[in-house]
Amino acid sequence: MTDIFSKIDKIYNEAGHNHYGEGVSQIEHAVQCARLAVEEGERSDMVVAALLHDIGHLIGEVNSDHGNFSHDHAGAEFLSRYFPPGVTEPVRLHVSAKRYLCTTEAGYIDSLSEASRYSLEHQGGLMTEDEVTAFRAEPFYEQAIRLRRWDDEGKDETLASTPFNSFSRYVEDVCNV
Ligand SMILES: [Fe+2]
Repeated sequence: MTDIFSKIDKIYNEAGHNHYGEGVSQIEHAVQCARLAVEEGERSDMVVAALLHDIGHLIGEVNSDHGNFSHDHAGAEFLSRYFPPGVTEPVRLHVSAKRYLCTTEAGYIDSLSEASRYSLEHQGGLMTEDEVTAFRAEPFYEQAIRLRRWDDEGKDETLASTPFNSFSRYVEDVCNV
């Protein structure tokens, strides 16, 4: 196991029990998202992005009810010490992807969990036309949208758990160090 995976594993084992208003814990949400990425045949960088996209909720100052409304940027910044943009950019953009889909896709907003609808208001709400254009100009915007779909789906309270460390090989695959 690499040093970076040990470090991440420790963060999830210590703080991953928080739910932040969802039915599943952060660690369960992480592995469900990563599993969806694997099932869709994604490359390792996207599997790691899916696994770690909410790490910003687990580091630094967080609110025990809703976590950290800036967790997208906090997480990407933390991960950029260890991972390339193929991991960090979808993570940085996954909240923007929610705002984008709420703005541009009919019915999307109604499909969100209650916690996710609540946080939307604190994350800038719907996008303006300029924000939509700027989002589409991001090199990783399509990856961010794919990640967002797993994020919405990876909240199944009935699924049996997959061990967090079963994803270590994907982390090792894309690690910068
Ligand atoms: Fe998430």
